[in-house]
Amino acid sequence: MKPVAVHLVAGARPNFMKIAPLFHALAREDWCRPAIVHTGQHYDANMSDAFFRDLRLPEPHFRLGAGSGTHAEQTAAVMIGYERLAADERPDWVIVVGDVNSTAACAMVAAKLWIPVIHLEAGLRSGDRRMPEEINRLVTDAICDVLWTPSPDADENLAREGVPAAKIDRVGNIMLDSFEMLRATIAAGGTRAAFGLQPGGYGVVTLHRPSNVDRREDLEPLVAQLAAVARELPLVFPVHPRTRQQLAAFGLLAALPGVLITEPLGYTQFMNLVCDARAVITDSGGVQEESTYLGIPCLTLRENTERPITVTSGTNRLVRTAELYERVCDALAGRWPTGRRPELWDGQTAGRCVAALRRRAAA
Ligand code: UD1
Ligand code: UDP
Repeated sequence: MKPVAVHLVAGARPNFMKIAPLFHALAREDWCRPAIVHTGQHYDANMSDAFFRDLRLPEPHFRLGAGSGTHAEQTAAVMIGYERLAADERPDWVIVVGDVNSTAACAMVAAKLWIPVIHLEAGLRSGDRRMPEEINRLVTDAICDVLWTPSPDADENLAREGVPAAKIDRVGNIMLDSFEMLRATIAAGGTRAAFGLQPGGYGVVTLHRPSNVDRREDLEPLVAQLAAVARELPLVFPVHPRTRQQLAAFGLLAALPGVLITEPLGYTQFMNLVCDARAVITDSGGVQEESTYLGIPCLTLRENTERPITVTSGTNRLVRTAELYERVCDALAGRWPTGRRPELWDGQTAGRCVAALRRRAAA
């Protein structure tokens, strides 16, 4: 029998941690032939290549080279590139992950070519359509054939939107498979020590949401709060390229005394820092999940989250910019919930995806 050809689509930093465990698991199967499609949404070495190395992925089998642009430009560039490739290759299945522009773009292409498409990390909703990712989630889930969800809230969101239960498989949280795959390497890494930090003696910051960094009136008070926090707790801040551009444009790069500013870090380097952190300050989706998994206080600088289970079960709390300093003091004083790991966040999600795909491919 001809092996089932599967395209795994990845474009931006968080996508790589989501395709890696699945690629490795599918590559071990004799009935299936996975290939990685890199859309090129992220392209700097420290936003892309470093992750292929860390996650032990081969070179992408296909590169679309879409690059940056406005939402329409970027989405269109991915669609044009992927339409050509998918029409030529006609994979049996396409798997898209997460909620970035590459996700929605490739889902649309596959659906219109009548190639069955699966969304891994389906069903998450912030309820906030001002977030570009929320639009990508709604579009992707509406047109995918199969929806692989991480948590019960995601199943409930899909049911409310009228998605038949037969299209949904609850598989769990795939990102944590990457963590478990690399746990020993992460623990053995020397990033924290190289920065001269003590276990439990520092915080980690990541920021890249347009709602925090694109406008001076949002970013300037946030920088002031971080500077205040850094007087109580040393902070390490690997700066996302979007954020670096904005900090530079507003002349704020020098306004962070006590904050150790670095380039974006590779996955194992970054997680080595997170594992020993006293707290994490972030607006990242993935970091909310990783900190809940590790039981580390997470202060999320957003009005809402598409990952409510990290708040209801985990160590995540939504925090307004103006209260950041105060809330970090709460965490330092131990006034923070301990939380527990959600069900199926266990490092075994890729195996459940393989079993679900095999069942569906044979149907
Ligand atoms: C994108 C995703 C966001 C995700 C984030 C993960 C969308 C709509 N946004 O946001 O959901 O949380 O990735 O990090 O898909 N740039 C570089 N080098 C790169 C990549 C980007 O310098 O390798 C700069 C470019 O100037 C670019 C800007 O960063 O215009 C933003 O990149 P883009 O991919 O459009 O959005 P992100 O903010 O990275
Ligand atoms: N991450 C990383 N290096 C960094 C910052 C983040 O490896 O300097 C990892 C982090 O551990 C998580 C993922 O990137 O696995 C989250 O990506 P990001 O915050 O860019 O996107 P989001 O999850 O918000 O879409």
